[in-house]
Amino acid sequence: MATSQELGSVNLYEKGGVPNSTTVKRRKPSLRNSTLLERLLITLCLFVVFTTLWIIHDINVPRKAGQFSAGISPEAYKYGLSKCAEINRERPSNKFEGVQRRNPRFVPGTKTYALTNGIILDGVGGKILGDIILRDGIIVAVGQDLSYDEDTVVIDLNKKFVTPGLVDMHSHLGVYSWPGLSATNDGNEESDPLTPYVRAQDGLNPSDPGIRIIKSGGVTTSLVLPGSANLMGGEGYAIKLRPVDTLSVDDMSVTANVSRDEERTWRWLKMACGENPKRVHGIDRGVMPFTRMGEAWLFRKQFAEASDLKRRQDDWCDISAKFGNSERLNTNFPEDLRNDGLIALLRGDARLNIHCYETYDIEAMIRHSLEFNFTITAFHHGLDAYRIPDVIKRAKGNITIATFSDLWGYKKESFQASTKSPKILSDANIPVALKSDHPILNAQHLIFEAAKAHHYGLDEKLALAAVTSVPANALGLGYRIGQISVGYDADVVVWNNHPLSLGARPLEVYIDGIPQFNVDTSVLEKESLESRHLKNKLNPPEPPRNTAKSRTATSFLIKNIGKVFVDEENIMDAYQSTEEKISIMVKDGLIKCIGTNCTSTDQISSYEVIDLNNGYVIPGITAVGSNLGLSEIGEESVTQDGIVTSNDYNNVIHAVDGLKLGGKHLEVAYKAGVLTAVTSPLSRRGVVAGISVAFKTGAQTGGRVILKEAVALHTQIGAPFKDEKVPTISGQISLLRKILMAKLTSNSSDDVFGLAVRGRVPLIVHTHSKDEIASLIRLKDRISSRGGNVRLVILGGAEAHLLARELAHRNIPVVLLPPRPTPEQWTAQNVLTGAPIDDKMGIDILHAHGVTIGIGVSEPGLSRNLVWDAGWAQKNSDGLISEKDAVGFITWNFGKIFKIDALSNGNVLMTEDNRANFVAYDGSPFDMKTRIRVVAGGGRDVALIDPDEE
Ligand SMILES: *[C@@H]1O[C@H](CO)[C@@H](O)[C@H](O)[C@H]1NC(C)=O
Ligand SMILES: *[C@@H]1O[C@H](CO)[C@@H](O)[C@H](O)[C@H]1NC(C)=O
Ligand SMILES: *[C@@H]1O[C@H](CO)[C@@H](O)[C@H](O)[C@H]1NC(C)=O
Ligand SMILES: *[C@@H]1O[C@H](CO)[C@@H](O)[C@H](O)[C@H]1NC(C)=O
Ligand SMILES: *[C@@H]1O[C@H](CO)[C@@H](O)[C@H](O)[C@H]1NC(C)=O
Repeated sequence: MATSQELGSVNLYEKGGVPNSTTVKRRKPSLRNSTLLERLLITLCLFVVFTTLWIIHDINVPRKAGQFSAGISPEAYKYGLSKCAEINRERPSNKFEGVQRRNPRFVPGTKTYALTNGIILDGVGGKILGDIILRDGIIVAVGQDLSYDEDTVVIDLNKKFVTPGLVDMHSHLGVYSWPGLSATNDGNEESDPLTPYVRAQDGLNPSDPGIRIIKSGGVTTSLVLPGSANLMGGEGYAIKLRPVDTLSVDDMSVTANVSRDEERTWRWLKMACGENPKRVHGIDRGVMPFTRMGEAWLFRKQFAEASDLKRRQDDWCDISAKFGNSERLNTNFPEDLRNDGLIALLRGDARLNIHCYETYDIEAMIRHSLEFNFTITAFHHGLDAYRIPDVIKRAKGNITIATFSDLWGYKKESFQASTKSPKILSDANIPVALKSDHPILNAQHLIFEAAKAHHYGLDEKLALAAVTSVPANALGLGYRIGQISVGYDADVVVWNNHPLSLGARPLEVYIDGIPQFNVDTSVLEKESLESRHLKNKLNPPEPPRNTAKSRTATSFLIKNIGKVFVDEENIMDAYQSTEEKISIMVKDGLIKCIGTNCTSTDQISSYEVIDLNNGYVIPGITAVGSNLGLSEIGEESVTQDGIVTSNDYNNVIHAVDGLKLGGKHLEVAYKAGVLTAVTSPLSRRGVVAGISVAFKTGAQTGGRVILKEAVALHTQIGAPFKDEKVPTISGQISLLRKILMAKLTSNSSDDVFGLAVRGRVPLIVHTHSKDEIASLIRLKDRISSRGGNVRLVILGGAEAHLLARELAHRNIPVVLLPPRPTPEQWTAQNVLTGAPIDDKMGIDILHAHGVTIGIGVSEPGLSRNLVWDAGWAQKNSDGLISEKDAVGFITWNFGKIFKIDALSNGNVLMTEDNRANFVAYDGSPFDMKTRIRVVAGGGRDVALIDPDEE
């Protein structure tokens, strides 16, 4: 009788049928005792092993034609070999001596220029007074008393500053064109969190008007990156900002026409970690990543896939190399377009730029780089990088931190930022680049980022390098851009002043040796105001740096003051005087004396004495238009009062009811001398936002905090504020008209619209468009003709200069927000972005017409920059705007605009019975080198002396 085992085994041989015991063959003894299952497994294994060997054999061993098969087609095989050759090719070193390099972007017919007698800041720390010769798109000579050909255009720069063209290593120009439209919203391929395969090159609009504006700020090269919605966002594209006749994106490439045998070229990848990818994808869409853990897994999964493919490519190349050309493998060279960029990274042919902020995000990414053996070129933003230099150095390679100078606080991962970070990182030998993230920051003002970083302690040379040679190196283009040296591309900028001084701007910009603005040579040759003032321009003396620890005092004497801006009428000026400087004496928080005689009037031996060294004192600064006091972290609703989303004008809310005092944003503002804030309820949609409050920024709580409970009625008109109830701008205006006209006869003192229509509270309208402003002027006129009196104030006002005369005539003030507007909005395309494109800016024109001007704050984290925003306007105005006017833009004008008596009447320097309300600086506040010495007021009884900058 057959055992079950035998039956089993028989069945393996004979299909069907119950075997006759006599037909059963003898089994080998070794198998005799095995179970059926074991035999099944063994047989299966043998089968698998054999099949695998057969497959491997088939891949690896080329067959002679006719023997088995002929392998892949000769074309496919040749293609594979070419890929292997490409992989194994010798990369050029990009080491060039002198002028042996030619600029492949050179445009025949370009004139030769000699820029003589300029102060050359070369981008790598050098500073010489000398000449530069630009020929054939190359800097062919740098030095003193150079000789040049006869047909050279010689321009005597008269000691103006010259730098390399600036390099912005993080821009979205062209993929987020101006004006912002859904049609040109091409920066984020949000369909999947992993899109390493999309390319900025394919979405870049070469007609973006932003290109010319950015160039007018001296930027000559931009790395255009995909956005940060995806973990792997795609490939970046580096362009020069010189227009090409062809309007071809390819021709704009920095490496257009480069011969790859002569110069090594790179690809640039963009990735992002942290908050953005999980917010864009994640829980809302129900797709991974929900968490940072999920982000890390997706990174690793994709890198594992790419590494595997790379290994298979290498295997293919190794084997084909062994068998030579006469025999062909049976499989194609393994490729996958989706992972092509990642493989380039793994092979060292791509440079990786990663958007990460938090310490642990940066560390996780470095962990992945070590696991998968790739190099990270730069962390972008990286606002927390300064806290982990040691972790950053664990990575292979030399990671650049491409960061902001002082933008912070808009989300959790940007909340721990420090303005000292560029200096801390540089001190730790980590290269620091400053970048725009355009249009997040208008890249036109990239140089201002460097100026601010310098103010906060980054050495002058490093601050300039941070926008020239450092980003050029990080792009792998440091051998041809970002420096003024012989053999480099002829991209240079001539400045009207030291580029790190406030309001400095280019007079002319050369790209590939071609002047981009064709300014009259006389402008470049004219002796500048600054060169007359500065005796030794090459090495201007550094003001003494105050290093004292921050402390407080209630009674103190400030002596040796050069200028005091008491209020609009009273400016005390002892700046030029050699003997009689001004003093201010404060006793128990009250100003006892301002003048030249203070020292002799009281018992001051116990007072702290602050020597201001001929510095300035101005009234406490007022921040208007930001979320200060209502929002701490922009993206976190639990840290905010909340956002008005509808047109519920029957229930107009008061900002005072939602005020949250203390907190980091207010502390930073206070320390920067921003002592008052006027904040309206937060609103993104709908016409009516609510009623603003004026309060003191330094106070935690208490009776003196609120300066005025109901300051103004805030409304907003324009495309961004359309909602379902009022989907049109005409509807917005009509709604405003309806509500106001209805209240013309109302007489109730608690009806805010009634108060507004009678001029008892100002009506603030947030809008930019000239057409919307014109409609509002008509509305005001109509109400006036019916006996009302609306005190209209325009907030925003990018195009307000086009109606300057009408605004001035009706006494309608404008609070500019942002201070240097851009054509980002469709309805604000008529902004003036300044020289060398426009002679004047909007603020100049408004001022010339006598419009009352305030400068507002858009991002609460930037309120500390208000004094620079005012100074920037003054410096940029060529003398049109005076120092006093500019101080008024951020102080007493707000008293007038909002009818806040304490800030407009009499001594603004003092409020409420002589209570001190001022900021003292060790120089002009409009000089980037100046520092704050005393902050007095802001709702605190004690004054802050020598505040630490955050
Ligand atoms: C590249 O070279 C071609 C042929 O010389 C020329 O027509 C073209 O203008 C060059 N492109 C750029 C961007 O310089
Ligand atoms: C890591 O990559 C480098 C090239 O960047 C290569 O030389 C090295 O062999 C790689 N190491 C490993 C373990 O693959
Ligand atoms: C890193 O980069 C900096 C600045 O470019 C350079 O000074 C330093 O030598 C580099 N370090 C390494 C290890 O390459
Ligand atoms: C300063 O004091 C002297 C006498 O003490 C007085 O005559 C003079 O008017 C004072 N000056 C000012 C500006 O107060
Ligand atoms: C408001 O009402 C009071 C009395 O009812 C009247 O005296 C006053 O003139 C009114 N004011 C306006 C602006 O209508």
